[in-house]
Amino acid sequence: MMRREPSDDGPARLAAAARLARIGGRLALEHWTRAEISWKSDDSMVTDADLAIQACLDQEIAAAFPDDGVLGEENGASAPRRLEATYVWVVDPIDGTNNFGRGIPGFSVSVGVLRYGRPFCGAVYDPLAGQLWSALVGHGAWVNERPLRLAPAPLSSRSLFCARTPYRDGAPDFVQRWLSRYRLRRMGSTALHLCYAAAGALAFVHDQRATLWDIAGAAPVVIEAGGVLTGERGAPLFPLDPDGYQGEPIALLAGDPLAHDQALRDLLGLGGAARSG
Ligand code: IPD
Ligand code: CA
Ligand code: CA
Repeated sequence: MMRREPSDDGPARLAAAARLARIGGRLALEHWTRAEISWKSDDSMVTDADLAIQACLDQEIAAAFPDDGVLGEENGASAPRRLEATYVWVVDPIDGTNNFGRGIPGFSVSVGVLRYGRPFCGAVYDPLAGQLWSALVGHGAWVNERPLRLAPAPLSSRSLFCARTPYRDGAPDFVQRWLSRYRLRRMGSTALHLCYAAAGALAFVHDQRATLWDIAGAAPVVIEAGGVLTGERGAPLFPLDPDGYQGEPIALLAGDPLAHDQALRDLLGLGGAARSG
């Protein structure tokens, strides 16, 4: 069990988030390729590993930061969650359960901390790749020990982008445009998609139906790497009140400032010819 740090400042919370993401990742590996799968009423997959990780992390956070709130994808509305607290931990015990439950790589454990509803720090751990993505607002973003600093790059035919399917009313025009210009990648963990954008590996990420637990751990990573994370119309995503949040879809766009700007123009129907590249 973690001991409470003497001060509840940023570095202490960042260290705790990183530690918890690694603990979750270790638990995930214990269930890897033999997880027990079930389906929730909304048709989303959940496994025994999701539930075990959520329970473990809830307990650790409550012991170390008893005044903080905890919002977890699998912790249920009836759990004591203190969501009106200044700091709220947002946990996705496994992001990419559809991969994990089927034995396909491409999943992560995501632990984010919001302060007054804004990204404060976060950690996203991919246990198969051994990659820990982390960030503390005002201090930087890292993958393992390596600092992340995005170099803005214009979109080109070499660019990789990520978008979420299904499109219930058919793929919109802007997606058709992207498909005809850029190279599509989709790994199946929204948290990892955002981290790959923070590393510049994915030029941009569009997601029409993300959730707060998908994005809370990776949001500070994108921001601190010098990326831009907004709603799909360019409006700020944060502050976002975790109190009362029930998984409503969040449409987002993330990328380096140049790529984000170009993709946003397409989303707003202002695309025309790509400006460069
Ligand atoms: C899922 C992942 C995936 C997205 C799904 C999400 P989960 O999260 O983020 O990328 O396409 O819609 O539900 O359910 O594995 O935590
Ligand atoms: Ca998720
Ligand atoms: Ca999940």
